[in-house]
Amino acid sequence: MSNRIIIHPDRLTANLKAVQNALPEGTAVIHVVKANAYGHGLETAVMAAGDAGVSRFAVAYVHEAERVRKAAPDGWILIMGVVRGHEVDACFRLGAVPVVVDEEHGQELAAAVPAGACLDVHLKIDTGMNRLGWAEPDPVPAIRRLAADGRLRITGVMSHLASSGPGGLAETQAERFRGILDALEPDEGRLIHFSNSQGLQFGWGQAFPGVRVGLLPYGYPTPGPEVPVAVRPVMEWRAEVFQVKDGPAGSPVGYDSTFYTARPTRIATLSAGYADGYLRALSNCGVVVLRGRRCPVIGRVSMNWITVDAGASSPVRRGDEALLIGEEDGASVDAAELANLAETIPYEILTRAGGASP
Ligand SMILES: Cc1ncc(COP(=O)(O)O)c(C=O)c1O
Repeated sequence: MSNRIIIHPDRLTANLKAVQNALPEGTAVIHVVKANAYGHGLETAVMAAGDAGVSRFAVAYVHEAERVRKAAPDGWILIMGVVRGHEVDACFRLGAVPVVVDEEHGQELAAAVPAGACLDVHLKIDTGMNRLGWAEPDPVPAIRRLAADGRLRITGVMSHLASSGPGGLAETQAERFRGILDALEPDEGRLIHFSNSQGLQFGWGQAFPGVRVGLLPYGYPTPGPEVPVAVRPVMEWRAEVFQVKDGPAGSPVGYDSTFYTARPTRIATLSAGYADGYLRALSNCGVVVLRGRRCPVIGRVSMNWITVDAGASSPVRRGDEALLIGEEDGASVDAAELANLAETIPYEILTRAGGASP
C-alpha cells in the first residue's frame, strides 16, 4: 500500500439527513457530486444519498451525468457547467437537465434539439459571481424569447452565492435573483434553487425552495454560524509508515534542510506526497495522527513521501498506518484544519486527496 482513501457512506447518509432536518419541510435538496463527489467517489456518494432519500444530483459535466445515471437509474440530474450542442443528444438519453447560461448558449442547445422534441433546462442566473450565467443588463427579454421558441422548457432557475456571511454579497444577490424571478412569468412547476452549504448555515436555505449542497454532506460545516448542522467527515485518508529513524538533536530533515530537530526524536517517513495530493504547502506545518497522537509534519513535503516527528518515545514501526485525515483514540485531523494550515479551502484538500480522480 502507499496511501488510501476510505469512505464512510453511512456518515454521508447521516449528514444528508442532518441537512434535511435543518431545512424547512419539503425543501428540494440537490446533492452536488461533481469532481468525483469532491474526491469521495461519485457512485458511492450517489448511493449513500439515496439511502437518505435524496435523489437529485448536480454535476459539472455530461461525463459525470453518465456516471450518476448508472448509479441512480431514477435520479434527477442537473448539469451546472456549459453543455454544448453536440452533447444535447446525451442529455436526452440520460434524462439530464443542462443549465442555460446566456441567450447564445440557449440558441445553441435549442438548435441541437431534435424536431418535435423539447429539452428541459434550468436557467443559471449570475447575480454576483461574474462566472457562469445570465448577467446584467436585464436578461429577462432574452429569456422570454428563448422560452417562446418552444424547443427548451424552463423547469428551474438557479443562482450561486459568491459568499454568504455578513458583509458579503448575499443580500444583494438574493435581491437580484428575486427581481429576475418576479419579472419572469410565474410558473409553479419551476424549481428555484439558490443556497450552497455555507449559505444554508447562514439562513439562506429558507429563502428559496431548493438548495445545492456539497461540502456540508461531506462532513464540513462552517463553524459557528446561525444554523448549526451536526455532520462528520466522510473521508478518511491513510498512509503507511515506510521507515522510522532515530534522529539526534540537530538532525536536518528533507529537501533544503528546512527543519532541524530540536531534540532527539523518531522521524517517521510516510507514503504520501504532493503527487498524492498532500499539498506541498503543508511542509513544516501539516499534522498527521500516528498511533493515536497528533504528530507534526517536519521538513518539506516531497513528491511521494512526508516526514513526521513521531516523538522520542513513540512505539511507531514500519507498516503502521498514519491518518492524514481521520480520527484515532480521540486524536484527529481533518480537511478543514489542513486547509487552514495550507492557506486553502477544504474543497481543494478533499478533491486532491489520494491523487488523480478516476
Ligand atoms: C453552482 C454550484 N452550486 C452549488 C455548489 C455546492 O457548494 P458547497 O459544496 O459549498 O455546498 C457548487 C460547488 O462548487 C457550485 O459550483
